Amino acid sequence: MSYKNIHVKDDGGVRIVTISRTSPLNPLSMETLREIKDAVLNSGNRVVTLTGANKAFSAGADINGFVGLDGAAAFALATEGHDIMNAIAGYPRPVIAAIHGYAFGGGFELALSCDIRISHPKTLFALPEINLGILPGWGGTQRLRHLVGENVAFEIISTGRRFNAEEAKELRIVNRVTENYLDEAVALAKELAKKPRESLKLVKKLVRYQPDDVFEEEKEAFGLVFNHPDMKEGVQAFLEKREPKFLDK
Ligand code: COA
Repeated sequence: MSYKNIHVKDDGGVRIVTISRTSPLNPLSMETLREIKDAVLNSGNRVVTLTGANKAFSAGADINGFVGLDGAAAFALATEGHDIMNAIAGYPRPVIAAIHGYAFGGGFELALSCDIRISHPKTLFALPEINLGILPGWGGTQRLRHLVGENVAFEIISTGRRFNAEEAKELRIVNRVTENYLDEAVALAKELAKKPRESLKLVKKLVRYQPDDVFEEEKEAFGLVFNHPDMKEGVQAFLEKREPKFLDK
């Protein structure tokens, strides 16, 4: 597969996958996610470091692609997104996210599908979907809850608020915060590449295990919100750079 939205570099037992869209905050189109999945699964069993070029890891799903989507199309989008995130979480070798700039929405969910997160100190994190009249639909409600507990996850998702790398570290969302986020991620990937494969594969499987059915309701909910007028208003308001006016019902 040739890639349009990512760069791939192999360095011994490590593959570095860099999201590199023409738009500076690396919005995630489905084509971009498919390329990431392909680059991870066909890495020759390397340990993977996933990072972003430009100004961000990723500011989330490409909101331009939401215009005109109905509930059925949104369900399909969530289903394919889940398959891709689950493929990364289930990839038998470690995947380390090296994060800078923004990890918002689907970009945050992509980072949550990785095994370890290393962040630049100035990164901002958020699941801001609520402000678009939708909700996280690529595993975020479940993976964040699993990491931080239901009260913190509910607060983060229901407000859509932004938080910095220091708070992400306190909440155990990221493992490390460092200016040298990418070098440290690659160094850690190289260290893990030397570990015995079978043990490491089984450790990943045991530690990352989540039953498949925890994600089913999220996909359905994602489809449901796309049939509500608040979604059209939220997306349109973002694209017109104005505050949304949601219905009182
Ligand atoms: N999808 C598509 N385009 C996006 C995007 C996304 N998720 N996030 C940002 N962009 C685009 C903006 O539309 C803008 O494009 P333009 O230059 O053609 O107008 C460009 O990236 C820069 O974004 P801008 O909002 O002007 O930058 P900023 O520095 O003022 O703000 C953010 C950065 C991340 C705070 C802001 O872009 C944002 O809130 N993005 C949406 C995040 C989101 O809701 N993600 C969840 C999607 S489900």
